[in-house]
Formats: sequence, C-alpha cells, structure tokens
Amino acid sequence: MEMLYEKLIEATDFIQSVISGKPEIAIILGSGLGTLSDQLETPVVIPYKDIPHFPLSTVAGHAGRLLFGSLHGTPVMMMEGRPHYYEGYSMRQIAFPVFLMKFLGVKKLVITNACGGINNDFSPGTLMIIDDFINLVSDNPLIGINDERLGPRFPDMSEPYSLEIISLAEKVADNLGIEYSRGVYAGFQGPYYETAAEIRSIGRMGADAVGMSTVSETIAANYAGIECFAIACITNMATGIQKVKHSHQRVLEIARLSSVTLSRWISSLIKALESSR
Ligand code: HPA
Repeated sequence: MEMLYEKLIEATDFIQSVISGKPEIAIILGSGLGTLSDQLETPVVIPYKDIPHFPLSTVAGHAGRLLFGSLHGTPVMMMEGRPHYYEGYSMRQIAFPVFLMKFLGVKKLVITNACGGINNDFSPGTLMIIDDFINLVSDNPLIGINDERLGPRFPDMSEPYSLEIISLAEKVADNLGIEYSRGVYAGFQGPYYETAAEIRSIGRMGADAVGMSTVSETIAANYAGIECFAIACITNMATGIQKVKHSHQRVLEIARLSSVTLSRWISSLIKALESSR
C-alpha cells in the first residue's frame, strides 16, 4: 500500500492535535440523514478539507466534515458526508476515513445510507437493517499489496454486520416502537440510477435494496477489525418498481423525513451499546 500507513499517521496526528480523548463509535451519516449530529454534546468540527489526505465529498446533501463529541457519555465521531466511487475516488481513498477511524481508536462503526428498495414489502421511508451485502463493483479497497498493520490479506466476510449489534438494535427499535425491516444491500457503482433490467437481475441475485455506497466502507471496517452495523433508508423504490423517474431532490426529501426516526434509533442504540459493555 503506497504510503497509506504514513498518510494515515499524518491525518491521525492532525486530528489528535485538535480533539481530546478517543472516539469509540463512529457513525457515517448518509445523504440527508444528518440530524443525529444535532444531539452531539461538546462537538468539535473538522472540515474534511483541513485533514491531510482526506477525500472530499462533492455531492449535494453531503456536508463534508468530521464531528467529534459524545452521545450519552460515549465518545463518538460522525462523518457528515462520504466520498463515493462514482466521484472518481479509488476504493482505497474511499476506505481512508474508515482506516483513520481505526487509527483514532474506534471499535464500532454505524453506517447509514439512502438507497432504492427492491423488496416489494418496502416503500419510501422503510428503514432496513443491512444483514449482508453484495458487491456489484469489480473493485474493493483491499486490492493491491497488503499492509498487515491495517488488516489481514484474506479477511473473513461471513458476518460483515455484527449479529450482536443487530440483535441489540432490534430490541431498541421494538422498545421505541420503530418499525424496521432486515435485508441484503447491493452496492452499485452509479452515479446513474440502475436500469429496470439491472434491478430485475440484482433482485434475482438476492438483494432487497440497492445503493451507491456502504459496501466498500463495510469491507474496509471488517478488514481493519472494526465491528459494523448499518441501516439503509429506502428513499424510493428502485427503477421499474416505482413508476416515476428518479430525482435526487426527492431522495433527499425522504431521507430528511426519515432522519428524525433514524436519529432517535441510533442515539438509543449507542446508549444501549454503552450499557451492554
Ligand atoms: N439506486 C441507487 N442508489 C440510490 C437509489 C437507487 O434507487 N436511491 C437512493 N440512492
């Protein structure tokens, strides 16, 4: 890995010169899903552009900053916005923030995203716990010479999302009266929304939802020894299932509406994770 380790040390040193303490849990806030950051206590904000080697997010609805602070006493960090493959970043660049989390001491990662529903039981606004993924991009962040300081050459991927956290999240949702589904997320390259034929074939492969993020972050986290949990917000039904054309504005609108419930859920989950330790 060309100087990746050294770049990560540089970024880590910079962040540690700004914050105090170590984040235990990281949360990636997807498009329009940023309201959780309002609950952050004693926030320290670091724009991505200030962090050495950090990839910038160029998409509308993505703020592009790291937030550090605490939620119910647990030190956390949040990513407001994320880099995507379709923006031209390499998979390694997309994984950079996840590797950085490891260097900062993060043990658990909560990923959120906005995506399209394939499962006919879903509708816009459905919150889906991701319990497995399908990587539709013929690339991933681990391709190339391996640096054992980051993770093993052949990482196991039989439980990409922690069954323990999933079970806790289900209990938390039940207690809060939050409805949710569970399913498989397929990561599509984008940036165009899939064709109807692609959606039919992705559905037959076993995916319940499809989106343009999350998979590479999940792979990087598992490789780096960070436990993962992910919730997908179904903002629209996928091409051919919904009869209207896609609109990014509409995606953001539904995500913002769902964000309130999603934030309540994740906030309580973090409290529950702390007390289950
Ligand atoms: N497909 C891919 N990505 C998405 C979608 C979709 O239908 N909706 C939101 N992100």
